Formats: sequence, C-alpha cells, structure tokens
Amino acid sequence: MTHSLSIAIDGPAASGKGTLARRLADYYHLPHLDTGLTYRAVGRALLIHGLPLDNVSAAETAARQVDLRNLDREALSAHEVGEAASKVAVFPTVRKILVDKQRAFATQPGGAVLDGRDIGTVVCPEADVKLYVTASAEVRAGRRLRDIEGRGGHADLAEILADIVRRDERDMGRADSPLRPAADAHLLDTSEMSIEAAFQAARTIVDEVLAKRNEA
Ligand code: C5P
Repeated sequence: MTHSLSIAIDGPAASGKGTLARRLADYYHLPHLDTGLTYRAVGRALLIHGLPLDNVSAAETAARQVDLRNLDREALSAHEVGEAASKVAVFPTVRKILVDKQRAFATQPGGAVLDGRDIGTVVCPEADVKLYVTASAEVRAGRRLRDIEGRGGHADLAEILADIVRRDERDMGRADSPLRPAADAHLLDTSEMSIEAAFQAARTIVDEVLAKRNEA
C-alpha cells in the first residue's frame, strides 16, 4: 500500500474493540497499539509500589516511564489493573504524557491502528477511519465471563456487570477526554454480532474510505 492508513477505534470495556483492532491491523498490515495498556501500565506501577491511585506525581512519573515497545499484555490484563487504569486515567497531566506517546505511534509513516477511549476525539482526530464499537452492558458482561471461564477462572456475572457499569460511568463521566463517539465515527453495535461479522462490517467501512480516496 503506497498510502498511509490510520484507523481509530473507541468503545467501552469488553465491547470487542481490541479484537477488532487486531484483526484490522493484521488484514491491512498495520502496526497496532492498544492504548488501554498504557493506562494499565501506569495503574500497575502504582499498585506494585503500594501507592495510592490518586498520587498524581507518582502517576506522572510512571507515565513518563511507559515504553510502547515493552507493554506486557499478560501482566497488564488483570482485572484490578484495569480498575486502577481507569482511576489514573482521570488525571489530565497523566493523559497528556501518554497521549503524546500514542500520537507519535499514530503518525508513523504508513499509518497505524489504535484502540482506546479517546482515539477518534483526542489522539487521532485526523484518522482516516473512526469506528465506535459498542454493545449492551449485559452482552459485554457475558463476554467477559466467558473469557474468564475460558482461561479456567471463575467469576460472578452480576459482579462483572456491576464493574462494567461502574467503569462506563467513570470513563464517560470524566472531565478530560470522556469516552464518546467522534462526530464522524461509524457506529458498530456488536450486541448481536459475532466478532467475524463485526470484522466484515468494519472492513467494508475501511474499504469504502480507501475506494473514495483512490477516486479523488
Ligand atoms: O481498554 P482497557 O480496559 O484496557 O482500558 C483500561 C482503562 O484505561 C479504561 O477503563 C480507561 O479508563 C483508560 N483508557 C483511557 N483512554 C484510552 C484507553 C484506556 O482513558 N485511550
């Protein structure tokens, strides 16, 4: 591909945006950044050092130390790390440090796929394609439960649902960069869609943008 292609994907926890982002990145041969991992890395650093999650200067230091080439998905996937991430993600100075790193990734030659909460609105407002992936809280809780059980764990559906609702409120209600669809985002409600169907729908949207660009 001679042109660069940037794809911004946003959506709430367990909406399927991460899987979709990875599939699109594979298909279009683009590098992919799950920006949630950067906030998780900050939350985890504070947890490891036993620091309170509202210690802004410690969170800023941890944010400066985040290395995009060295994000350990496995270590960062724990549930409490996600909760911690959403608490440190409310601080504008922490966000600014991470957003600068994410933008550098997004603007690399050839383009990239980024997924998160504020990619289409703040990190890459100029993205070629913006997708907002969502699903009902009940469907997302069910998917999260199946994920956990698939890895041999146990969890309670009602507790997962309560966590998801709380996380949505925190992510959508914060003052800086709240989760919301960009005005020009394509909405994909995956409540009744398989991941394959969601991928095909997203691919159609991206291909249309590419076709239009080639006509121009
Ligand atoms: O997507 P993931 O669940 O890994 O994100 C963890 C938390 O990081 C989110 O709940 C959100 O508070 C924060 N986040 C964010 N902006 C992003 C990505 C994640 O505020 N671009």
